[in-house]
Amino acid sequence: MDMTDGAMTVDDVEVASGYLDVEKLRRDFPILAERVHDRRIVYLDSAATSLTPRPVIDAISKYYETTHANVHRGVYATAEEATRLYEEARIKVGRFIGATRPGEEVVFTKNATEALNLIASSWGHANLKENDVVVLTEMEHHSNIVPWIMLSEELGIELRYVPIDGSGRLDLSNFDEFCDGAKLVCVSAMSNVLGTINPITEMSKVAHDHGALVVVDGAQSVPHLPVDIQELGADFLAFSGHKMMGPTGIGVLWANATILEAMPPFLGGGGMILDVKPEKFLPADPPDRFEAGTPPIAEAVGLAAAVDYLQSIGMGQIRSHERSLTAFALESIGEKLGDDCRIFGPPAGDDRGGVMSFSYRDVHAHDIAQVLDQYGVCVRPGHHCAKPLMRKLGVAATARASIALYNSEDDINVLIEGLVEAGRLFANA
Ligand code: ALA
Repeated sequence: MDMTDGAMTVDDVEVASGYLDVEKLRRDFPILAERVHDRRIVYLDSAATSLTPRPVIDAISKYYETTHANVHRGVYATAEEATRLYEEARIKVGRFIGATRPGEEVVFTKNATEALNLIASSWGHANLKENDVVVLTEMEHHSNIVPWIMLSEELGIELRYVPIDGSGRLDLSNFDEFCDGAKLVCVSAMSNVLGTINPITEMSKVAHDHGALVVVDGAQSVPHLPVDIQELGADFLAFSGHKMMGPTGIGVLWANATILEAMPPFLGGGGMILDVKPEKFLPADPPDRFEAGTPPIAEAVGLAAAVDYLQSIGMGQIRSHERSLTAFALESIGEKLGDDCRIFGPPAGDDRGGVMSFSYRDVHAHDIAQVLDQYGVCVRPGHHCAKPLMRKLGVAATARASIALYNSEDDINVLIEGLVEAGRLFANA
């Protein structure tokens, strides 16, 4: 199955000034041809979920039309082919993040949240006991906080939160002390609220010096930056398919093979055993050990097509496009709305991704989002599943615009137009 049918190549899509040829790329996304409120869709909610390009939709349809069967079970031709496609997807996804043993180290889950829960439940129960320390950060998503609180309530482990500084970066001045006696450090590679790109490689070194393992939440980084787990030096990486142009219903846990091999099963059921007797079972080797039940087969095929799609453009080019557009957005918003618009997170630069959370005058985030909707602009209002961070920022909610490879300066201009109107309608004088 050629999953790159119809996808652009770098030469096709790259234009001057670090930007991709968005006009061309947008044609790959059928939803962008739709209209809302008689306007074109300005999709600025890719941190919540990305849009799906035609090659991914086609790969999933083709799979259902020609190959659908369960995997690792049947011996008939389509079942063998479904298994081949599923395992091929595992290898492709693993290579995409630099895994050296993708066939053993990549576990398909439901989403990044499930991948993080798998680590907490399986590795956590096997390796943590009362008073052990797990280090988190103040900018984590609930999915990298709540599983650890649950474990803390059950086992009595200590949770330490690395604070953020005034610029929306991690304050790592005392990180060494935070890691002292720690068994695990859990950190987001890129904040889903602040856009901060954290120095994972450096943090991993410090954590390892203290004998702690490192869990990286890559939900926001893997879709937008070149990610190489060898370079990150982390022990676990979790991310989701639907944020990287793939389908919903599939996530990925990458873990070092030796660590994964020593972990007990997460869920029990079919496909994760070597043998079962009435009173005991023998688990299968990873990754099967962690994939109980029928796995997300069509979703894996779609995710493989998404990896092909992203690679056909190039992660470096995608980052370069999004970096330029983030700089444009931060500068334009500052110029046109001034201090009325408070944007959280670091200024444009190497450690800033395209997630922009903001408050505008005294307008409620939900009012902002509703007015923007009238302009066809899709943003997310709310706490962004990061309530500890919201409290730290001193806000109940923000509006959040988040970009991807299909966004352009025009999209940012419409966002600003809508914000001015939200202020006119809702702000106190
Ligand atoms: N985690 C996704 C977000 O931040 C849903 O919006």
